Amino acid sequence: MDALIPAAPRALCAAADLAEGTARGFPPAGPGFAGVFLVRKGGRVFGYVNVCPHLGVSLEWTADRFLSADGTSIVCAMHAAVFRIGDGACLSGPCEGAALTPVAVTEADGMLCVPAGAGRYAEEG
Ligand code: FES
Repeated sequence: MDALIPAAPRALCAAADLAEGTARGFPPAGPGFAGVFLVRKGGRVFGYVNVCPHLGVSLEWTADRFLSADGTSIVCAMHAAVFRIGDGACLSGPCEGAALTPVAVTEADGMLCVPAGAGRYAEEG
């Protein structure tokens, strides 16, 4: 019966703590989850699972460093794949044509939230 009741969204941070043109990463929600990250660009907030479609590793090279130096795109630190902020599409690099997995972001009571299942790895088998 519990499975029929949607889990509450996961609050990641205060909306005011994600400045325009910046990104922030968040750890996995628990076992079986990948981390997620948020980017605020053009007044909108975009969320993605923090897994590069090339090799399945985290994208940032150090805490919260997901963006190119000019802040116009997301870059994977491992092999420099470049992703469009607006839809996560890989524009160049070894996974060109693939895309980051988007995460829906909502704002509630001043907090940026994602669905409870955001970043959950698909069950195998
Ligand atoms: S692991 Fe991200 S580009 Fe290779």
